[in-house]
Amino acid sequence: MISRREFVLGASATIGAVGAVRPLLSWGADESPAIPGKDGMIARSLRFLDLEMPAEYATSFITPVEHFYVRNHMHEPNTVEPGEWRLGVSGEVEKPLTLTLAELAKMQQHTVIDTLECAGNGRAFAAPRVPGIQWEKGAVGTARFSGPRLRELLERAGVKPTGKHVMFRGLDEVPRKVPPFIRSIPIEKATDEDTLVALHMNGAALTTHHGFPARALVPGWIGAASCKWLTEIKVLDKEFEGNFMSPGYRMPNQPVKPGEAVRVEDTHPMTALNVKSLIASPRDGASVKSRGMHVQGLAWAGEADIAKVEVSTDSGATWQPAQLGKEQSHYAWRLWGYSWNAPGPGAYTIVSRATDTQGRTQPDSVQWNPSGYLINVVDRVQIHVQA
Ligand code: MTE
Repeated sequence: MISRREFVLGASATIGAVGAVRPLLSWGADESPAIPGKDGMIARSLRFLDLEMPAEYATSFITPVEHFYVRNHMHEPNTVEPGEWRLGVSGEVEKPLTLTLAELAKMQQHTVIDTLECAGNGRAFAAPRVPGIQWEKGAVGTARFSGPRLRELLERAGVKPTGKHVMFRGLDEVPRKVPPFIRSIPIEKATDEDTLVALHMNGAALTTHHGFPARALVPGWIGAASCKWLTEIKVLDKEFEGNFMSPGYRMPNQPVKPGEAVRVEDTHPMTALNVKSLIASPRDGASVKSRGMHVQGLAWAGEADIAKVEVSTDSGATWQPAQLGKEQSHYAWRLWGYSWNAPGPGAYTIVSRATDTQGRTQPDSVQWNPSGYLINVVDRVQIHVQA
């Protein structure tokens, strides 16, 4: 019997061998097994599981778990026995705690609808190309997360005045020579009423891919802040120093020219997400029969809210307002739509551009940086309207 890890490695080798550019993991029953719990996703890596949601799935306010992107820096823990699992709270606290899953489940549960996005989403559009997972548009999803507030755990432990940052450690299986995935967030964000130790996602226990049995949920911030398979919370007197805080997950302090190197001293850790939009329909490359169509998609803005979305059907020359969907929640994306009749057959470039309540608007071109982070260029799809 092959273990899950051997299967994953084997599948990875197969994809490498056939050289598929965009392998979809929705093979039929007689072909290869699909990734458990996932459906129709784009496999960006199978060594450590990295799955992207195809943009055309971005049609719902809440993303079903089977379509929610997965970003793993290392192996998912093979088995977490919920009865034996413990969460420690230590460091700059009066009273260190060790909590069981049952104890966390008994605490007051709070729900936050959050759009989680990987900081590297859109990296594939960086020119010159930068190293890292070549995410296109779908390393993003919105889910209803619930669990106790992190603040309540910290209150129980009693944070000392010296406690300024809160570090999370996950149970990932760390391959040799790879630094563990440990990061920290400032105490102000850790004690925000919406920062959670999430146990549930869309009303069910977290799945292994998303951090079972508990993950940090740091709403509005880059996905990397929301540590999965949480096992340790440690209050520190300063920011955690480790590979995933520095040099990882940092942005240049100033805009840089494409291809330019940046010294780590000239960078800062990333926190909240950018304003961004995504066109779900029509899909890029579509050839449509009807001139009448409903252009639709999603827009999000991290800790801000979406103020407007505009659509251009002439490659950005002119813009029209899109209608925003009714469903809304702070930290969550908004659905938007725009009905359009193409003037005639031919090729069209449809563009979406979002503006948020902080006055930020998506740029017309990629703002290049050496790691391809927070790329939020306006979204474009090219379609052909048939004669
Ligand atoms: N937590 C642990 N322990 N290990 C990881 O590799 N990846 C982070 C974050 N939490 C990661 C982690 C990154 S980079 C992102 S974008 C989000 O998890 C992705 O969450 P998801 O896989 O549930 O979509």
